Amino acid sequence: MIKFPEGFLWGGAVAANQCEGAWNIDGKGMSVADVAMYKPNVDVKDYVSQWHVSQKNVDEAMKATDDTYYPKRRGIDFYHRYKEDIALFEEMGFKTLRVSIAWTRLFPNGNETEPNEKGIEYYKDLFKTLRKANIEPLVTLSHYEMPLYLVNHYDGWVNREVVDFFVRYAKVCFESFKDEVKYWLTFNEIDSVFRHAFTTIGVLEEKYENKEKAEEAIYQALHHQFVASSIATKLCHEIIPGSQMGCMVTKTLTYPETCNPEDIYLAQKDNRVNSFYTDVQVLGFYPTFIFKEWKRKGFDIKMEKDDLDIIQKYTVDFISFSYYMSMVQSINAEQREKVGGNLTTGVKNPYLHISEWGWQVDPVGLKISLIDLYDRYHKPLWIVENGIGSKDVVEENGTIQDDYRIEYFRNHFKQIALAIDEGVECMGYTSWACIDLVSASTSQMTKRYGFIYVDADDLGNGTYNRFKKKSFDWYKKVIATNGECL
Ligand code: BG6
Repeated sequence: MIKFPEGFLWGGAVAANQCEGAWNIDGKGMSVADVAMYKPNVDVKDYVSQWHVSQKNVDEAMKATDDTYYPKRRGIDFYHRYKEDIALFEEMGFKTLRVSIAWTRLFPNGNETEPNEKGIEYYKDLFKTLRKANIEPLVTLSHYEMPLYLVNHYDGWVNREVVDFFVRYAKVCFESFKDEVKYWLTFNEIDSVFRHAFTTIGVLEEKYENKEKAEEAIYQALHHQFVASSIATKLCHEIIPGSQMGCMVTKTLTYPETCNPEDIYLAQKDNRVNSFYTDVQVLGFYPTFIFKEWKRKGFDIKMEKDDLDIIQKYTVDFISFSYYMSMVQSINAEQREKVGGNLTTGVKNPYLHISEWGWQVDPVGLKISLIDLYDRYHKPLWIVENGIGSKDVVEENGTIQDDYRIEYFRNHFKQIALAIDEGVECMGYTSWACIDLVSASTSQMTKRYGFIYVDADDLGNGTYNRFKKKSFDWYKKVIATNGECL
């Protein structure tokens, strides 16, 4: 029989920039998400062009008065409908909900000295509503929503001053929400800086002389995020006794195509790079191969005297991660069929099913990832994103028969249980996303992940009313039986 531990935190996840909307309400400033454009005819599997943002795009977006093609500005109107949505999560029996705070609601430009009280009031009420529903908030401080002002005036996270701005923001969050929030995360998918630098660290690569200079700038920005994350962890522990801070990474598991040692080495390289981000935040030091790489490439990453000490002293309490797919590396990649997906490109795995968006679905890979992470770090793990985007169909009788989603979750849950059975300590699971919302990469509304359907299309047409999908009752039962019904 499937067994999950007592108190396992079942729930769901969303992010402010993809669900709140209300992008210019109650004093909120513009964030990088507010300039993300929906491109109707772009190949959804073309991952790189989805994320590409130029200065021209930013300038045009800042002047745009019509929001039709900027779906993250409207999200799913969670800002006004959160009580209704939380009631649905409560009905499903959620033990936890992962949300993020939009930095620009508290600090519209990012560099103010005093926070916007309206922003604090909003989140205070959101967290209190969750508590009333017996739902434990898990809060990400930065989920692809840095202030646009810091991009335009400071070059994003490349500028050291941004560390201080972020720390000020984090401190305000801890002080304001200390009675409601115990579990925190600093940066969503901190490893995604190289996949989409604009959204994560506010770096426009075209500003740099060449690819190498841009890469150096990204490493600099990343270093600043590591330092900021450690200082935030220290403050969190000081301000909220008993609180726990987690890091958040994309678990990108890479397999070798064959047992040819060269294939194995290629896969190892990818996995090693993926571990780099957790190594810094969990073990507290940069792996040697990163310093070697910087030296080889002639990168001069500026560090202040205490940076490495800070990173070493204030490591995280738990590891949270997203898991969507696995990848394959091959020395014969040229001759192989490729797959795209949200992470990177690799070789097609003939044993796996591929989603409409080119993501290789691999439940067993989740078990392997859990075991790998636990064996390496011996820290509690929390799966904070996992799910499948699909084009749901509303039947004539108004139902949404999303059996494929049920199947997806069932397969993944079984693998989590197996990993736990092998000794892995897993605190909880929050599906991405528990309610339909705007896609991070494609800005589509029609790439749906939720147990709850939101009546809106890519251009913002619709009532935005919420409807339960078939998976709603299914997940409710999984939670009620703590997984035993699987
Ligand atoms: C993760 C992000 O990478 O993947 C989420 O943290 C995102 O913000 C999720 O929504 C799914 O990706 P997408 O592009 O389908 O929304």
